[in-house]
Amino acid sequence: MKLRHKLHRLTLRRSMASLILNSTFLILVIFLLGEAKGEKMIKLPKPKTKGEISLEEAVNRRSSVRNYSPKPLNLAQLSQLLWAAGGKRFDATTEASRTIPSAGALYPLEIFVLVGEVEDLDKGLYQYHYKDHSLKLLKEEDLREELSRSAWGQDFLAQAPVDLIVAAEPSRTTNVYGERGKRYIQIEVGHLGQNVYLQAEALGLSTCAIGAFDDEGVARVLGLKKGLIPLYILPLGYRK
Ligand SMILES: Cc1cc2nc3c(=O)[nH]c(=O)nc-3n(C[C@H](O)[C@H](O)[C@H](O)COP(=O)(O)O)c2cc1C
Repeated sequence: MKLRHKLHRLTLRRSMASLILNSTFLILVIFLLGEAKGEKMIKLPKPKTKGEISLEEAVNRRSSVRNYSPKPLNLAQLSQLLWAAGGKRFDATTEASRTIPSAGALYPLEIFVLVGEVEDLDKGLYQYHYKDHSLKLLKEEDLREELSRSAWGQDFLAQAPVDLIVAAEPSRTTNVYGERGKRYIQIEVGHLGQNVYLQAEALGLSTCAIGAFDDEGVARVLGLKKGLIPLYILPLGYRK
C-alpha cells in the first residue's frame, strides 16, 4: 500500500515537472518566434488598484487640458493609463473581464500609443496588448508632429509627451449586431475616454478628448491596417 502511494506521488511529481518544462519550452518558442519576426515587446509594470485621490475627487477635477509641460511620464504612469483604458481586471476569469464594458464582450477597440517622452521607453509608435499588459513596438519614430497636422494643427498633440489613439475594427461588433453595432462602438470609445480622463486626474496628469481630425490622415500616420478606423485621440501629460 505504502509503495503504491510512493509510486503515485513520484508519477505525479514527474508529470508536474514535465508540465512545467513543456510550458517553459512553449513560452521560449513563442518569445523566440517574436524575436525572429523582429518584434519588440515591452512588458509594462503591474498597475495599482489604489490611488492618491478618491474617485469623487477625480470626477470633480476632470477637465480638458490643451497646454502640456514637456516633463516626461514614467512607465508606471503609462502602464496605469493603458490598464484603465482597456486592460484586464485583476479578478479576470475570462478574456472578457476588462476595465471597460463592451457590447457582447466583442471589444472592437485597439489602443495605439505615440511615445514622445517616457522614461525608459524609446520614442515611437506602439500598440497596447491587453492580454499580457505589454506594448508592441511598431515604428521607432516620433510621429507626434505628423499626428498634430492630421488633427487640423491641434499643436498640443505634438507638445504632450504621449498621445493615445483609439481605433475600432467595426466588423467585430457589426458582424453580430448589424447596423446597431456602429452605435455600440461609439458608446464604447466614450467609456474608454472617461476612464482615461479619471485615471489621468488620479495620477496628477491631464488629457483632452480629440474627435476633430482627418481619419485617413491619422490612419496613414499610424499605418493602420485596412478595417481599422481611428475614433479618438487622447494626449497625456502634466498640465503647464
Ligand atoms: C467627442 C468629443 C470630441 C472632442 N473633440 C475635441 C477636439 O477635437 N479638440 C479639443 O480641443 N477638444 C475636444 N473635445 C473636448 C471638449 O471641447 C471639452 O470636453 C468641452 O469643451 C468641455 O470642457 P471640459 O472637458 O474641460 O469639461 C472633445 C470632446 C468630446 C466629448
